[in-house]
Amino acid sequence: MRILSGIQPSGTLHIGNYFGAIKRIIESQNEGDLFAFIASYHALTSVKDKEVLEQNTFEAAVNFLALGMDPEKSTFWAQHHVKEVLELYWLLSNHTSMGLLERAHSFKDKTARGIQANHGLFSYPVLMAADILLFDSNLVPVGKDQIQHVEITRDIANSFNHHYKKDIFVLPESKVDEELATVPGTDGAKMSKSYGNTIDMFSTKKKIKKQVMGIVTDSKELDEPKEWENCNIYKLCELVMNEDELKELQQRYATPGEGYGHFKLTLLDKLNEHFAPYQERREHLIANPKEVHEILAFGASKASKIASEKMRILRDIVGLI
Ligand code: ADP
Ligand code: TRP
Repeated sequence: MRILSGIQPSGTLHIGNYFGAIKRIIESQNEGDLFAFIASYHALTSVKDKEVLEQNTFEAAVNFLALGMDPEKSTFWAQHHVKEVLELYWLLSNHTSMGLLERAHSFKDKTARGIQANHGLFSYPVLMAADILLFDSNLVPVGKDQIQHVEITRDIANSFNHHYKKDIFVLPESKVDEELATVPGTDGAKMSKSYGNTIDMFSTKKKIKKQVMGIVTDSKELDEPKEWENCNIYKLCELVMNEDELKELQQRYATPGEGYGHFKLTLLDKLNEHFAPYQERREHLIANPKEVHEILAFGASKASKIASEKMRILRDIVGLI
């Protein structure tokens, strides 16, 4: 079974990105043949600065590799290194109705927020369809906001298959982890870089401490018992503590004598402990960019073999000989 996912190179990662998306993509290496790429072409819809795009793409690669992406076991590349995807995007564009794209929530949401619409943003789902269909992907792990894009992909694949009377494209399924709760930010709302309520995965110890110490709680005093049920600190502890540790923490909440500052320090220790094993590999990769570029080139060569064969068949089918 082929599993495929794309990750937008969006800069500093927070623990919401990790527990909400990255962890699952990396774990899916044990469930099937994982194809994962850094969606650099997609990022052009929002990143227009050359240095920022280069840096973000590099950082995304470093982070994924540090977090356990295995370039031998999986195929891991940067989108713009396998250009067939743009050729497929054009073929698919000619089988995509305007109405299908006009109904896309992400486009409607972005324009409603005042982001200036251009053709790239409008046709983004067609590029995503090309990403998925080029590699005959069966399963696409995505967040809830991306389900519609996988449905659009199926619609486009169906019309193409129907038009040429061939099962050229595999119809992909999206895989959404229903159990996965939204990770709350330090203010209790969804953690998001646009809300400034994040806890970073890989910033300096000092910055992460500041973010954790900034978690919003009620104002109960040291000598009062506290409730863990709706506490933002506890919700984040649930991500990094096992059952026994959580039971012990519940006891501490119920017993007067400790304040929220103590619980925050416990969370901070657990977060540091959780991400420490990845830190060393991350630092090694940052210091050795050549290694990162070689890994991406190796992934691109594996992905290219499949992409060029698929495009050869497709050109033949549509009459581009
Ligand atoms: P942000 O909201 O910080 O801009 P992105 O939109 O770049 O984050 O999200 C990248 C990935 O991380 C998406 O797949 C998204 O589903 C996931 N993600 C982001 N924030 C959270 C969160 N608070 N809880 C769970 N998943 C999240
Ligand atoms: N659109 C996805 C996002 O914003 C990223 C992405 C691009 C993707 N191409 C993909 C995800 C193909 C899954 C499959 O998160």
